[in-house]
Amino acid sequence: MSNINFSNCQIMKIIYSIFFFFILISASLSAENGSKLWLRYQSASSTKVSLAQFSSIVCLEDGDILRSGANELKMAYSEMTGKEMPTSGVPQSNSLLLGTLHNKYIRSLNIGKELAQLGSEGFVIRRVKLNADSCTVIASAGEQGVLYGAFYLLRLLQTNTYSSNINVKEHPSYKVRILNHWDNLDGSVERGYAGHSIWKWDELPATISPRYAEYARANASIGINATVLNNVNASPKMLSTENLLKVKAIAAVLRPYNIRVYLSINFSSPKELGGLSTSDPLNPDVRKWWKNKAAEVYKLIPDFGGFLVKANSEGLPGPMDYGRTHVDGANMLADALKPFSGIVMWRAFVYEPGDDRVKLAYNEFHKFDGQFRDNVIIQVKNGPVDFQPREPFSPLFGAMKKTALMPELQITQEYLGQSNHLVFLSSMWEEFLDTDTHAAGDGTTISKLTTGEVYPQKITAFAGVANIGDDANWCGHHFAQANWYAFGRLAWNNQLSSEQIADEWIKMTFTSPPIPLLKERGVRDSSLLSIKKMMLTSHQTAVDYMMPLGLHHIFAWTHHYGPEPWCDIIGARPDWLPKYYHKADSIGLGFDRTTNGSNAVGQYCSPLREQFNDVSQCPEKYLLWFHHVPWDYRMNDGKTMWDELCYTYDKGVQSVREYQKIWDKAESFVDAQRFAEVQSKLRIQARDAVWWKDACLLYFQTFSKRPIPYDIERPVHDLDSLKAIKLDLKHHN
Ligand code: GCU
Repeated sequence: MSNINFSNCQIMKIIYSIFFFFILISASLSAENGSKLWLRYQSASSTKVSLAQFSSIVCLEDGDILRSGANELKMAYSEMTGKEMPTSGVPQSNSLLLGTLHNKYIRSLNIGKELAQLGSEGFVIRRVKLNADSCTVIASAGEQGVLYGAFYLLRLLQTNTYSSNINVKEHPSYKVRILNHWDNLDGSVERGYAGHSIWKWDELPATISPRYAEYARANASIGINATVLNNVNASPKMLSTENLLKVKAIAAVLRPYNIRVYLSINFSSPKELGGLSTSDPLNPDVRKWWKNKAAEVYKLIPDFGGFLVKANSEGLPGPMDYGRTHVDGANMLADALKPFSGIVMWRAFVYEPGDDRVKLAYNEFHKFDGQFRDNVIIQVKNGPVDFQPREPFSPLFGAMKKTALMPELQITQEYLGQSNHLVFLSSMWEEFLDTDTHAAGDGTTISKLTTGEVYPQKITAFAGVANIGDDANWCGHHFAQANWYAFGRLAWNNQLSSEQIADEWIKMTFTSPPIPLLKERGVRDSSLLSIKKMMLTSHQTAVDYMMPLGLHHIFAWTHHYGPEPWCDIIGARPDWLPKYYHKADSIGLGFDRTTNGSNAVGQYCSPLREQFNDVSQCPEKYLLWFHHVPWDYRMNDGKTMWDELCYTYDKGVQSVREYQKIWDKAESFVDAQRFAEVQSKLRIQARDAVWWKDACLLYFQTFSKRPIPYDIERPVHDLDSLKAIKLDLKHHN
């Protein structure tokens, strides 16, 4: 029996506090649909430091962009405190002062040189003495930097990492930090898994959806400063005057958030839209047509960014249709845009049949090094195939020394479980950016190459294929928002770790008022840590249950969701079929790309080419990418390749099961709606992981003729029933 005795009064107190605690929890954990993304300031009211510490906001300049920053702070202040933020014309003790060198108080700080070095988008945030008073200043050479500084400060508050002796200095890694929407004029989104396009072309320009401004705000909060509105598989109609007026209306909403609009163009536009008999880039009428079109665009949208071009790829028209080259095509457009300071982002995603698919973009482009105009940048997908769960980097990075190159990442999860699987892509992008190409000796990482630190580039840029749609939660899966967030953060600072990015995102996205209470009870920290761990391992997990050890492109025909390593479509291009990539036979598995095979290894610099070429040195994560490996080949851990494959698939499945447990444990501090939605997606992911494992192992077993190790979970499907699955998902090739 307990020897603790409570008085009636104590018991009442306990009952009241339990009652109060649950009221608080249920009020703040009420349904949330995810539409606020990571921009939740309310939650910060429970953190130690809030905007309330500032006595007033002092903002004496008048630019639209600067005003967006000031308004964001004011809005956050009222969300955090329930009161309006005091404004003042003169800095007082503890004021928050924002501005550029046009502001006399900022000029008086003598930081002009420092600000000039950081550029118009860079900024400082620091504690300063103005006259006798201590203030906090957000200062920049340009109003853009003030906007980014405002969001930076808010992030520190939201994540509880603000300190009163703040001293921050920031500037972006890339000049152009750009989303690529694959959105069509009919409202559909190619490889979009979050509803329809957010651009309501039918209603524009008369009706402006409120979502455009929310979109702009969200992008500005993570430093994204550009967006391509339409699909790379572009309709010539995009450039019609009628549509340009709609683009103008969108641009007007994005401009105050420092976001420039770009368009994908169809190379045949002169012919298809302009009625010319050709679109030959060397034809004078064609050149004139593009010059006139560029002039029309800039008249409507003076800060228009430029064109993104997919040419001679997957059936799209291009200069090669006229016996010309990619250089002829890109330079023609560059000349048309030059008078307006516009740029051309010309994609290297081309694969005319002829050689091993992974070699084709390199074969086509590296020979043109140095021949593109200085307002052309070549946009290269991170890997040489096509956004596979894991690929080695595209060997074009480092191979073109006199040409500006930009990475293209895919935020939408075309090949990574679409909007059903929780996969934090930041880890994959970090791995890519940190890769040493050895192009100019040791340490020539992709991050250094693409920021122009190794070979100077006039333009630097970082592109991501957007995962945004008109779903309430923007991205289809609540955790897919983290990929949009991570893309922006890495475009701003490509040295950030995925751990930091995940940490920020979790704290900003899921914290809610009762957390300090829960924290006292020890719930929050362990759950946050487990969620972070789940995110940070989730990419490897997806690779494990889909395509481990360097396997790639064994997806089902066209929709790229589930497994179909057996897929065989009569008449299809061989390199659209899984068998082309996995090459399973009685001897082993994998594509021989060594010097004895397709020699794709030869496109990499030493010592990578030798490492990749030697089966015993090749990193095991790329083993089956570069080698056809016997089933009994001994892996580093002593297992045979077949056993390793089985254990890795199983590990992927088990990890997803673990994620389900982690998430269920987080129920007490996540609002009900988001909790339930993520829980349900994790169930799908767990089932899909088993589907992948069973499909791949049972199919490859028909070649390996070896047992699935007895200590792992047995298949729950029959191969024949898996082969019969035909998903009715929308698709393109
Ligand atoms: C992939 C994708 C296509 C897309 C293409 C591209 O192949 O499946 O839908 O058009 O990439 O990047 O151009």
